[in-house]
Amino acid sequence: MMKTEILSADEKAIEKCGEIIARGGLVAFPTETVYGLGCDAYNGKAALDVFAAKGRPCDNPLIVHIADTEDIEKIAEPDDAAKKLIAAFMPGPFTLIMKKKPCIPAEVTAGLDTVAVRFPQSKTAQALIKAAKVPIAAPSANLSGRPSPTTAKHCIDDLSGRVDAILCGENCAIGVESTVVAIKDGKAVLCRPGKVTPEDIRNAGVELIVPENVNRTVGENERPISPGMKYKHYAPKGTLTLLDGDGALDALVRYKNEGCGIICFDEDLPLLSGKLTVSLGKKDDSDSHAEKLFSALRYFDDMKTEKIYSRLPSDKGVGLAVYNRILKAAGSRIEKL
Ligand code: TXA
Ligand code: MG
Repeated sequence: MMKTEILSADEKAIEKCGEIIARGGLVAFPTETVYGLGCDAYNGKAALDVFAAKGRPCDNPLIVHIADTEDIEKIAEPDDAAKKLIAAFMPGPFTLIMKKKPCIPAEVTAGLDTVAVRFPQSKTAQALIKAAKVPIAAPSANLSGRPSPTTAKHCIDDLSGRVDAILCGENCAIGVESTVVAIKDGKAVLCRPGKVTPEDIRNAGVELIVPENVNRTVGENERPISPGMKYKHYAPKGTLTLLDGDGALDALVRYKNEGCGIICFDEDLPLLSGKLTVSLGKKDDSDSHAEKLFSALRYFDDMKTEKIYSRLPSDKGVGLAVYNRILKAAGSRIEKL
């Protein structure tokens, strides 16, 4: 166990955390999507410490965070399609995979010849990157296999005693991780859905391929475009089952009466409210579903709820990201009613 400094994200703390990163340490910090666990992206040894602190397999590469689009060409080689996407979505909840330059060590990219680059919108994240004076390699700041953290408290719960500092800032307004896109032969390929939607990407004038396996955990013998697609993510400790169809609400009422955890919409609350019920917001509000999903999953972990049943959220727009995460959390268990 190491001593973890818990710091409120004022100017002085950001300066201090920048120094910690510059000398090879690990700092959890807020972004607009989820909290990240950052280190100096030029320091391969620090990257290995990030994998160890999270318990993350070393073959799952990290995202490199920058705070100035000018810095992209120092670490990556954007082609024309990449340049269009950078102009359209950076800064923002968007990660672009490009050919890497040699300055990014193999530990960060898990030996791949590509690097994932993100320019977060969060002012706290931008200030930290500027204070560190190096790009920051950062996966989500959860223990591997747990839901990504969307509040400082989630980071404290997972990483106290495992990292140098936790920079406690804003709650994450988006709540699901960035959209990850790779470029192949001048076309974009969706590796992970997020707040930037397939429609947004096409509207930026780039052709987009959505692989059929984007919403499931890729099997042992498949070669996914992004290593992250292989892993079972976002698993709550209890068993989560998604309910679809006209009978879903009746079934949720039954399960609630049996003492199970319930994830529902605001419209359902008159029939479902209770200590083990969490609403993701109004039925049609996918932004709210995104913002609340990971907190909901963590709530049931804290309550040690063994069985959790959920409404199936919409997969339209940013809903695709919510649907993708909740489906993985449920190990693809959907009951048709
Ligand atoms: O919103 C986010 O993206 C957050 C915040 C902290 O920026 N970060 C995040 O990182 O979610 P992480 O490590 O949990 O997810 C990164 C994903 C993984 O699925 C990984 O496999 C993929 O990006 N990835 C990273 N580098 C890659 C590369 N060179 N090629 C393909 N996939 C890559
Ligand atoms: Mg993650």
